[in-house]
Amino acid sequence: MAHLGRKLPIDPCKCEHVSLSMPSSRRMNECRPVPIRYVEPVFRPPSEADSLILPVTDGCSWNQCRFCEMYTAPQKKFRARDEAEVLGSIRWAAQVQGERVRRVFLADGDALVLPTHRLLAILTAIGEQLPGVQRVSSYCLPRNLRRKSVAELAELQAAGLKLVYVGAESGDDTVLERVGKGESFASTREALDKLAAAGIRRSVMILNGLGGPVFTQQHAEQSARLANATQPEYLATLVVSFPQGEARFRAGFPDWQPLDQQGLFREMEQFISALELQRTIFRSDHASNWLMLKGTLGKDKARLLAEVRQAIADPARAALRPEWARGL
Ligand SMILES: C[S@@+](CC[C@H](N)C(=O)[O-])C[C@H]1O[C@@H](n2cnc3c(N)ncnc32)[C@H](O)[C@@H]1O
Ligand code: SF4
Repeated sequence: MAHLGRKLPIDPCKCEHVSLSMPSSRRMNECRPVPIRYVEPVFRPPSEADSLILPVTDGCSWNQCRFCEMYTAPQKKFRARDEAEVLGSIRWAAQVQGERVRRVFLADGDALVLPTHRLLAILTAIGEQLPGVQRVSSYCLPRNLRRKSVAELAELQAAGLKLVYVGAESGDDTVLERVGKGESFASTREALDKLAAAGIRRSVMILNGLGGPVFTQQHAEQSARLANATQPEYLATLVVSFPQGEARFRAGFPDWQPLDQQGLFREMEQFISALELQRTIFRSDHASNWLMLKGTLGKDKARLLAEVRQAIADPARAALRPEWARGL
């Protein structure tokens, strides 16, 4: 996962409390510009490298997935940011970058946990202050949408939210339970279907190797079943990896073993073989992957499978990422 190492000056907003019942333009006028305050580490998808990263929350409201240590540092404890600060940051970005901002990524780990009215105020302010913005995106947990209707999501879409990144991780309920995701095939499917109905594009992440050797087959098959059932616009695979050690993960999944390189490739072969997608941009080019795959499914399925099979048969001749270049 890409990490923004940039530090910016901290200047908390001194705004008075502003009422949510005020129109957003009026609320905007109540806020003075305030430089965007990043609490490190900050993560964003690789495809948001050129986006303005706008924190609207800190940390992750769930923070219990045992494979994920992205928001476990004390300074990343979950909190929703004060609305006045966020609106002040938008005003500051407008002054500094103005129409040059084309894309905005709402950080942190699950910005869509904010109530719809808070998100609408943020999206409206972005629309008003940053007229060059064509796309706003964020991470999204299925549970973030439990209390949001399709009509509310459609309002968010109309206000600028065009894409969300959903960490499905697996379609297999046993694997999801072992890793503490707090979601299931059904809950993830429901969220992805709601997003589709609202016209919000979905980028779904699946973790290669998450079930270890014991669950590899069902992880591959059920993850493909989830993708087939929901037909996401984008699908990405990452290799599960533990830069800070496996202890936290093993606490909930004691019999887990990592898949070796061949095991990871075989799981990818099973996964791609089982995919029946009509028009999904597929990527396994994140830095955690050995094998980089890119294509559009279904039209590139045969080519992608051939590339995986080539890597299984003769890894020495496959275009693999060297170990030193791998990472989260
Ligand atoms: C910053 S997280 C935010 C995603 C969002 N909270 C969600 O769960 O949908 C983005 C993604 O990083 C990936 N990730 C987290 N921990 C990982 C690990 N140890 N190895 C590989 N990928 C990991 C997961 O796919 C996760 O969904
Ligand atoms: S994967 Fe997503 S939901 Fe799970 S702890 Fe990490 S950020 Fe939170």
